[in-house]
Amino acid sequence: MNTKILVTGGAGYIGSHTTVELHNAGYEIVIVDNLSNSKVEVIDGIERITGIRPVFIKADCTDLDAMKKIFKTYPDIKGIIHFAASKAVGESVQKPLLYYRNNIDSLLNLLELMPQYGVQGLVFSSSCTVYGQPELLPVNEEAPIQPALSPYGNTKQINEEIIRDAIYSGAPYKSIILRYFNPIGAHPTAEIGELPNGVPQNLVPFVTQTAAGIRKELSVFGNDYNTSDGSCIRDYINVVDLSRAHVTAMNRLLNNVSATNLECFNLGTGKGLSVLELIAAFEKATGVKVPHKIVGRREGDIEQIWADPRRANEVLGWKAVENIEDTLRSAWKWQQKIG
Ligand code: NAD
Ligand code: WQD
Repeated sequence: MNTKILVTGGAGYIGSHTTVELHNAGYEIVIVDNLSNSKVEVIDGIERITGIRPVFIKADCTDLDAMKKIFKTYPDIKGIIHFAASKAVGESVQKPLLYYRNNIDSLLNLLELMPQYGVQGLVFSSSCTVYGQPELLPVNEEAPIQPALSPYGNTKQINEEIIRDAIYSGAPYKSIILRYFNPIGAHPTAEIGELPNGVPQNLVPFVTQTAAGIRKELSVFGNDYNTSDGSCIRDYINVVDLSRAHVTAMNRLLNNVSATNLECFNLGTGKGLSVLELIAAFEKATGVKVPHKIVGRREGDIEQIWADPRRANEVLGWKAVENIEDTLRSAWKWQQKIG
Protein backbone atom coordinates (compact mmCIF):
# COMPACT_ATOMS: atom_id res chain seq x y z
CA MET A 1 0.00 0.00 0.00
CA ASN A 2 1.23 3.44 -0.88
CA THR A 3 1.60 6.06 1.84
CA LYS A 4 -1.55 8.15 2.20
CA ILE A 5 -1.47 11.95 2.32
CA LEU A 6 -4.34 14.30 3.12
CA VAL A 7 -4.29 17.34 0.88
CA THR A 8 -6.54 20.09 2.23
CA GLY A 9 -7.56 22.55 -0.47
CA GLY A 10 -6.51 19.97 -3.05
CA ALA A 11 -9.06 21.20 -5.61
CA GLY A 12 -7.40 24.62 -5.57
CA TYR A 13 -4.64 26.03 -7.74
CA ILE A 14 -1.52 24.85 -5.94
CA GLY A 15 -3.21 21.87 -4.25
CA SER A 16 -4.28 20.33 -7.57
CA HIS A 17 -0.78 20.60 -9.06
CA THR A 18 0.72 19.18 -5.88
CA THR A 19 -1.72 16.26 -5.97
CA VAL A 20 -0.39 15.37 -9.43
CA GLU A 21 3.24 15.52 -8.25
CA LEU A 22 2.44 13.48 -5.12
CA HIS A 23 0.84 10.86 -7.34
CA ASN A 24 3.92 10.84 -9.61
CA ALA A 25 6.04 10.22 -6.52
CA GLY A 26 3.95 7.20 -5.53
CA TYR A 27 1.75 8.68 -2.83
CA GLU A 28 -1.97 7.99 -2.44
CA ILE A 29 -3.99 11.13 -1.97
CA VAL A 30 -7.15 12.06 -0.10
CA ILE A 31 -8.36 15.55 -0.97
CA VAL A 32 -10.59 17.55 1.31
CA ASP A 33 -11.95 20.80 -0.10
CA ASN A 34 -15.14 22.77 0.55
CA LEU A 35 -15.06 24.12 -3.03
CA SER A 36 -15.36 27.68 -1.72
CA ASN A 37 -12.77 28.78 -4.30
CA SER A 38 -12.60 25.86 -6.72
CA LYS A 39 -14.68 23.52 -8.83
CA VAL A 40 -15.14 19.78 -8.53
CA GLU A 41 -14.19 19.43 -12.24
CA VAL A 42 -10.58 20.04 -11.14
CA ILE A 43 -10.61 16.44 -9.88
CA ASP A 44 -11.40 15.32 -13.45
CA GLY A 45 -8.37 17.29 -14.67
CA ILE A 46 -6.14 15.57 -12.11
CA GLU A 47 -7.51 12.20 -13.20
CA ARG A 48 -6.87 12.95 -16.87
CA ILE A 49 -3.22 13.73 -16.11
CA THR A 50 -2.48 10.88 -13.70
CA GLY A 51 -4.94 8.21 -14.83
CA ILE A 52 -6.04 7.83 -11.19
CA ARG A 53 -8.91 9.64 -9.52
CA PRO A 54 -7.82 10.86 -6.10
CA VAL A 55 -10.29 10.38 -3.26
CA PHE A 56 -12.24 13.63 -3.00
CA ILE A 57 -14.26 14.63 0.04
CA LYS A 58 -16.28 17.82 0.02
CA ALA A 59 -15.92 19.05 3.57
CA ASP A 60 -14.87 22.10 5.50
CA CYS A 61 -11.63 22.01 7.50
CA THR A 62 -13.23 24.26 10.12
CA ASP A 63 -15.77 21.49 10.80
CA LEU A 64 -14.09 19.38 13.48
CA ASP A 65 -16.61 16.52 13.28
CA ALA A 66 -16.30 16.29 9.50
CA MET A 67 -12.50 16.22 9.81
CA LYS A 68 -12.64 13.53 12.50
CA LYS A 69 -14.80 11.44 10.19
CA ILE A 70 -12.16 11.70 7.47
CA PHE A 71 -9.39 10.49 9.78
CA LYS A 72 -11.62 7.65 11.01
CA THR A 73 -12.38 6.62 7.42
CA TYR A 74 -8.69 6.83 6.42
CA PRO A 75 -6.77 5.88 9.59
CA ASP A 76 -3.58 5.36 7.56
CA ILE A 77 -3.10 9.03 6.63
CA LYS A 78 0.56 9.71 7.44
CA GLY A 79 0.97 13.30 6.36
CA ILE A 80 -1.02 16.44 5.64
CA ILE A 81 -0.34 19.21 3.17
CA HIS A 82 -2.47 22.10 4.32
CA PHE A 83 -3.43 24.44 1.47
CA ALA A 84 -7.04 25.14 2.48
CA ALA A 85 -7.37 28.83 3.24
CA SER A 86 -9.03 31.99 2.03
CA LYS A 87 -6.39 33.94 0.14
CA ALA A 88 -7.72 37.19 -1.35
CA VAL A 89 -5.80 40.04 0.27
CA GLY A 90 -8.40 42.74 -0.55
CA GLU A 91 -11.34 40.64 0.60
CA SER A 92 -9.55 39.93 3.88
CA VAL A 93 -9.55 43.67 4.62
CA GLN A 94 -13.33 43.75 4.06
CA LYS A 95 -14.11 40.51 5.90
CA PRO A 96 -11.36 39.99 8.47
CA LEU A 97 -13.36 37.70 10.73
CA LEU A 98 -14.11 35.32 7.87
CA TYR A 99 -10.36 35.13 7.20
CA TYR A 100 -9.39 34.61 10.83
CA ARG A 101 -12.14 32.01 11.33
CA ASN A 102 -11.39 30.06 8.17
CA ASN A 103 -7.62 30.15 8.18
CA ILE A 104 -7.05 29.69 11.89
CA ASP A 105 -9.81 27.23 12.81
CA SER A 106 -8.82 24.98 9.91
CA LEU A 107 -5.26 24.70 11.19
CA LEU A 108 -6.30 24.27 14.83
CA ASN A 109 -8.54 21.35 13.90
CA LEU A 110 -5.74 19.61 12.01
CA LEU A 111 -3.19 20.10 14.79
CA GLU A 112 -5.66 18.80 17.34
CA LEU A 113 -6.48 15.69 15.30
CA MET A 114 -2.96 14.80 14.10
CA PRO A 115 -1.78 13.19 17.36
CA GLN A 116 -5.09 11.36 17.82
CA TYR A 117 -4.72 9.70 14.43
CA GLY A 118 -0.95 9.24 14.35
CA VAL A 119 -0.27 11.74 11.55
CA GLN A 120 3.48 12.32 11.45
CA GLY A 121 3.99 15.41 9.34
CA LEU A 122 2.40 18.68 8.30
CA VAL A 123 3.48 20.82 5.37
CA PHE A 124 2.04 24.31 5.67
CA SER A 125 1.48 26.90 2.90
CA SER A 126 2.87 30.19 4.05
CA SER A 127 3.84 33.23 2.08
CA CYS A 128 6.68 35.67 1.52
CA THR A 129 4.16 38.27 2.61
CA VAL A 130 5.39 37.60 6.19
CA TYR A 131 8.62 39.48 5.34
CA GLY A 132 6.87 42.73 4.34
CA GLN A 133 9.43 44.91 2.53
CA PRO A 134 12.72 43.27 3.56
CA GLU A 135 15.72 45.47 4.24
CA LEU A 136 18.10 43.00 2.63
CA LEU A 137 17.55 41.35 -0.74
CA PRO A 138 17.41 38.56 -1.65
CA VAL A 139 15.49 37.71 1.50
CA ASN A 140 16.38 34.60 3.49
CA GLU A 141 14.43 32.78 6.21
CA GLU A 142 16.24 34.62 9.02
CA ALA A 143 14.84 37.99 7.96
CA PRO A 144 12.54 39.55 10.55
CA ILE A 145 8.82 38.99 10.25
CA GLN A 146 7.18 42.40 9.81
CA PRO A 147 3.73 43.56 10.91
CA ALA A 148 1.22 42.14 8.43
CA LEU A 149 -0.26 44.48 5.83
CA SER A 150 -3.61 42.65 5.71
CA PRO A 151 -5.72 40.26 7.80
CA TYR A 152 -4.83 37.57 5.23
CA GLY A 153 -1.11 38.15 5.80
CA ASN A 154 -1.71 38.14 9.51
CA THR A 155 -3.39 34.71 9.34
CA LYS A 156 -0.20 33.33 7.78
CA GLN A 157 1.94 34.83 10.55
CA ILE A 158 -0.42 33.57 13.26
CA ASN A 159 -0.57 30.12 11.68
CA GLU A 160 3.23 29.94 11.62
CA GLU A 161 3.28 30.88 15.31
CA ILE A 162 0.61 28.31 16.19
CA ILE A 163 2.59 25.56 14.46
CA ARG A 164 5.78 26.68 16.20
CA ASP A 165 4.14 26.72 19.64
CA ALA A 166 2.53 23.31 19.10
CA ILE A 167 5.86 21.78 18.02
CA TYR A 168 7.80 23.42 20.87
CA SER A 169 5.23 22.07 23.35
CA GLY A 170 6.35 18.58 22.33
CA ALA A 171 3.66 17.63 19.82
CA PRO A 172 4.35 14.18 18.33
CA TYR A 173 4.71 15.35 14.75
CA LYS A 174 7.04 17.39 12.56
CA SER A 175 6.24 20.32 10.34
CA ILE A 176 7.72 22.15 7.39
CA ILE A 177 6.58 25.68 6.66
CA LEU A 178 6.95 26.69 3.02
CA ARG A 179 6.99 30.39 2.23
CA TYR A 180 5.91 30.81 -1.38
CA PHE A 181 6.94 33.77 -3.45
CA ASN A 182 4.63 34.41 -6.46
CA PRO A 183 3.29 31.12 -7.90
CA ILE A 184 2.32 31.36 -11.58
CA GLY A 185 1.67 29.16 -14.62
CA ALA A 186 -0.24 25.94 -15.10
CA HIS A 187 0.34 22.26 -15.70
CA PRO A 188 1.93 21.80 -19.16
CA THR A 189 -1.03 19.64 -20.23
CA ALA A 190 -3.40 22.55 -19.51
CA GLU A 191 -5.66 20.08 -17.70
CA ILE A 192 -5.39 22.12 -14.48
CA GLY A 193 -4.45 25.72 -13.73
CA GLU A 194 -5.49 28.81 -11.82
CA LEU A 195 -9.21 29.65 -11.79
CA PRO A 196 -9.46 33.26 -10.67
CA ASN A 197 -12.74 34.29 -9.10
CA GLY A 198 -14.10 37.42 -10.85
CA VAL A 199 -11.67 40.15 -11.88
CA PRO A 200 -8.16 38.80 -11.24
CA GLN A 201 -6.19 40.64 -8.57
CA ASN A 202 -2.94 38.84 -9.37
CA LEU A 203 -0.74 39.91 -12.23
CA VAL A 204 -0.44 36.83 -14.43
CA PRO A 205 -4.16 35.95 -14.63
CA PHE A 206 -4.80 39.61 -15.53
CA VAL A 207 -2.08 39.44 -18.19
CA THR A 208 -3.52 36.28 -19.77
CA GLN A 209 -7.11 37.59 -19.67
CA THR A 210 -5.96 40.83 -21.31
CA ALA A 211 -4.04 38.93 -23.97
CA ALA A 212 -7.20 36.90 -24.59
CA GLY A 213 -9.26 40.09 -25.01
CA ILE A 214 -11.38 39.47 -21.90
CA ARG A 215 -9.93 42.62 -20.32
CA LYS A 216 -9.26 45.69 -22.44
CA GLU A 217 -6.05 46.76 -20.80
CA LEU A 218 -3.74 45.83 -17.96
CA SER A 219 -2.99 48.52 -15.40
CA VAL A 220 0.63 48.54 -14.27
CA PHE A 221 0.51 49.74 -10.69
CA GLY A 222 3.25 52.35 -10.55
CA ASN A 223 6.45 53.13 -12.48
CA ASP A 224 8.00 55.42 -9.90
CA TYR A 225 9.44 52.80 -7.55
CA ASN A 226 13.13 52.66 -6.80
CA THR A 227 13.74 49.80 -9.26
CA SER A 228 15.49 49.59 -12.63
CA ASP A 229 12.37 50.44 -14.67
CA GLY A 230 10.26 51.89 -11.84
CA SER A 231 7.78 48.97 -11.63
CA CYS A 232 7.62 46.52 -8.70
CA ILE A 233 9.81 43.44 -8.56
CA ARG A 234 8.67 39.93 -7.57
CA ASP A 235 10.01 36.37 -7.68
CA TYR A 236 7.65 34.44 -9.98
CA ILE A 237 7.80 30.70 -9.32
CA ASN A 238 6.37 28.02 -11.63
CA VAL A 239 3.50 26.18 -9.93
CA VAL A 240 4.79 22.73 -10.93
CA ASP A 241 8.23 23.58 -9.54
CA LEU A 242 6.53 24.78 -6.38
CA SER A 243 4.45 21.61 -6.16
CA ARG A 244 7.54 19.39 -6.41
CA ALA A 245 8.91 21.11 -3.30
CA HIS A 246 5.92 19.81 -1.36
CA VAL A 247 6.74 16.25 -2.36
CA THR A 248 10.34 16.74 -1.25
CA ALA A 249 9.14 18.27 2.02
CA MET A 250 6.73 15.39 2.67
CA ASN A 251 9.45 12.80 1.94
CA ARG A 252 11.68 14.63 4.40
CA LEU A 253 9.03 14.63 7.13
CA LEU A 254 8.02 11.01 6.73
CA ASN A 255 11.59 9.70 6.40
CA ASN A 256 12.71 11.58 9.50
CA VAL A 257 15.48 13.37 7.63
CA SER A 258 15.07 16.75 9.28
CA ALA A 259 17.25 17.46 12.28
CA THR A 260 14.61 19.57 13.98
CA ASN A 261 10.85 19.12 14.27
CA LEU A 262 10.14 22.46 12.62
CA GLU A 263 11.76 23.82 9.49
CA CYS A 264 10.98 26.73 7.22
CA PHE A 265 11.97 27.21 3.58
CA ASN A 266 11.61 29.96 1.01
CA LEU A 267 10.26 28.71 -2.31
CA GLY A 268 11.34 31.02 -5.08
CA THR A 269 13.67 31.15 -8.05
CA GLY A 270 16.10 33.64 -6.54
CA LYS A 271 15.53 35.99 -9.47
CA GLY A 272 13.45 39.16 -9.36
CA LEU A 273 11.41 40.30 -12.34
CA SER A 274 9.71 43.68 -12.70
CA VAL A 275 6.09 43.99 -13.83
CA LEU A 276 7.23 45.48 -17.15
CA GLU A 277 9.81 42.72 -17.61
CA LEU A 278 7.14 40.10 -16.98
CA ILE A 279 4.85 41.64 -19.60
CA ALA A 280 7.74 41.71 -22.10
CA ALA A 281 8.60 38.07 -21.29
CA PHE A 282 4.96 37.06 -21.85
CA GLU A 283 4.85 38.86 -25.21
CA LYS A 284 8.13 37.25 -26.28
CA ALA A 285 7.08 33.77 -25.14
CA THR A 286 3.63 33.82 -26.75
CA GLY A 287 3.89 36.38 -29.55
CA VAL A 288 0.72 37.97 -28.16
CA LYS A 289 0.61 41.66 -27.22
CA VAL A 290 -0.64 42.75 -23.82
CA PRO A 291 -2.16 46.24 -24.00
CA HIS A 292 -1.15 48.04 -20.82
CA LYS A 293 -0.92 51.46 -19.27
CA ILE A 294 0.86 52.85 -16.24
CA VAL A 295 -1.43 53.91 -13.42
CA GLY A 296 -0.83 54.93 -9.80
CA ARG A 297 0.60 52.63 -7.15
CA ARG A 298 -1.64 49.98 -5.56
CA GLU A 299 -2.06 50.55 -1.85
CA GLY A 300 -0.12 48.14 0.31
CA ASP A 301 2.19 46.92 -2.50
CA ILE A 302 5.71 46.00 -1.59
CA GLU A 303 8.31 47.64 -3.83
CA GLN A 304 10.59 44.71 -4.41
CA ILE A 305 11.13 41.24 -3.06
CA TRP A 306 12.81 38.11 -4.28
CA ALA A 307 13.93 34.97 -2.53
CA ASP A 308 17.21 33.68 -1.32
CA PRO A 309 16.29 30.03 -2.00
CA ARG A 310 19.64 28.57 -0.90
CA ARG A 311 18.25 26.82 2.17
CA ALA A 312 15.63 25.06 0.05
CA ASN A 313 18.30 24.26 -2.56
CA GLU A 314 20.86 22.91 -0.12
CA VAL A 315 18.89 21.50 2.82
CA LEU A 316 15.63 20.47 1.20
CA GLY A 317 17.36 19.46 -2.03
CA TRP A 318 14.85 21.30 -4.22
CA LYS A 319 15.48 23.87 -6.91
CA ALA A 320 13.25 25.75 -9.32
CA VAL A 321 14.09 24.47 -12.80
CA GLU A 322 11.41 25.80 -15.14
CA ASN A 323 12.18 28.97 -17.11
CA ILE A 324 9.93 32.02 -17.16
CA GLU A 325 9.01 31.78 -20.85
CA ASP A 326 7.83 28.16 -20.65
CA THR A 327 5.98 29.09 -17.49
CA LEU A 328 4.19 32.01 -19.14
CA ARG A 329 3.41 29.84 -22.16
CA SER A 330 1.77 27.32 -19.81
CA ALA A 331 -0.34 30.12 -18.30
CA TRP A 332 -1.35 31.21 -21.81
CA LYS A 333 -2.20 27.66 -22.91
CA TRP A 334 -4.41 27.32 -19.83
CA GLN A 335 -6.09 30.68 -20.50
CA GLN A 336 -6.87 29.63 -24.06
CA LYS A 337 -8.41 26.44 -22.76
CA ILE A 338 -10.68 28.07 -20.17
CA GLY A 339 -11.55 30.91 -22.58
P1 NAD B 1 -6.90 28.34 -3.94
O1 NAD B 1 -7.97 29.25 -3.43
O2 NAD B 1 -6.87 28.04 -5.38
O3 NAD B 1 -6.93 26.97 -3.13
C1 NAD B 1 -7.37 26.87 -1.81
C2 NAD B 1 -8.42 25.77 -1.77
O4 NAD B 1 -8.85 25.62 -0.42
C3 NAD B 1 -9.66 26.09 -2.60
O5 NAD B 1 -9.95 24.99 -3.43
C4 NAD B 1 -10.76 26.31 -1.57
O6 NAD B 1 -12.02 25.87 -2.04
C5 NAD B 1 -10.27 25.46 -0.41
N1 NAD B 1 -10.70 25.90 0.92
C6 NAD B 1 -10.67 27.15 1.46
N2 NAD B 1 -11.11 27.13 2.72
C7 NAD B 1 -11.43 25.82 3.00
C8 NAD B 1 -11.92 25.14 4.14
N3 NAD B 1 -12.22 25.80 5.27
N4 NAD B 1 -12.11 23.81 4.08
C9 NAD B 1 -11.83 23.12 2.94
N5 NAD B 1 -11.37 23.71 1.83
C10 NAD B 1 -11.16 25.04 1.86
O7 NAD B 1 -5.51 28.97 -3.45
P2 NAD B 1 -4.02 28.59 -3.85
O8 NAD B 1 -3.47 29.69 -4.65
O9 NAD B 1 -3.96 27.20 -4.37
O10 NAD B 1 -3.34 28.67 -2.42
C11 NAD B 1 -3.13 27.52 -1.62
C12 NAD B 1 -2.47 27.94 -0.34
O11 NAD B 1 -1.24 28.61 -0.61
C13 NAD B 1 -3.29 28.90 0.52
O12 NAD B 1 -3.08 28.59 1.87
C14 NAD B 1 -2.67 30.26 0.20
O13 NAD B 1 -2.86 31.16 1.23
C15 NAD B 1 -1.22 29.87 0.03
N6 NAD B 1 -0.46 30.81 -0.79
C16 NAD B 1 -0.88 31.09 -2.05
C17 NAD B 1 -0.16 32.01 -2.82
C18 NAD B 1 -0.62 32.38 -4.21
O14 NAD B 1 -0.17 33.39 -4.71
N7 NAD B 1 -1.47 31.60 -4.86
C19 NAD B 1 0.99 32.59 -2.30
C20 NAD B 1 1.40 32.27 -1.02
C21 NAD B 1 0.66 31.36 -0.26
C1 WQD C 1 2.42 41.24 -8.53
C2 WQD C 1 2.91 42.57 -9.07
C3 WQD C 1 1.52 44.45 -8.51
C4 WQD C 1 -1.94 43.24 -10.91
C5 WQD C 1 -0.16 38.83 -3.66
C6 WQD C 1 -0.41 38.73 -2.19
C7 WQD C 1 0.56 37.79 -1.56
C8 WQD C 1 0.59 36.45 -2.27
C9 WQD C 1 0.63 36.56 -3.75
C10 WQD C 1 -0.64 34.82 -1.03
C11 WQD C 1 2.76 43.71 -8.06
C12 WQD C 1 1.55 44.22 -10.02
C13 WQD C 1 -0.70 43.28 -10.30
C14 WQD C 1 -2.24 44.20 -11.92
C15 WQD C 1 -0.06 45.14 -11.65
N1 WQD C 1 -0.54 35.67 -1.99
N2 WQD C 1 0.22 44.22 -10.66
N3 WQD C 1 -1.28 45.10 -12.24
O1 WQD C 1 1.03 41.59 -4.75
O2 WQD C 1 3.12 40.19 -5.01
O3 WQD C 1 1.18 39.25 -3.85
O4 WQD C 1 -0.32 37.53 -4.21
O5 WQD C 1 0.03 34.70 -0.07
O6 WQD C 1 0.19 37.66 -0.22
O7 WQD C 1 -0.28 40.03 -1.62
O8 WQD C 1 1.08 39.57 -6.30
O9 WQD C 1 0.16 39.13 -8.53
O10 WQD C 1 -1.06 40.73 -7.01
O11 WQD C 1 1.11 41.41 -8.00
O12 WQD C 1 0.76 46.00 -11.96
O13 WQD C 1 -3.34 44.23 -12.46
O14 WQD C 1 2.10 42.94 -10.18
O15 WQD C 1 1.55 45.82 -8.22
O16 WQD C 1 3.86 44.53 -8.20
P1 WQD C 1 1.64 40.28 -4.95
P2 WQD C 1 0.23 40.16 -7.48
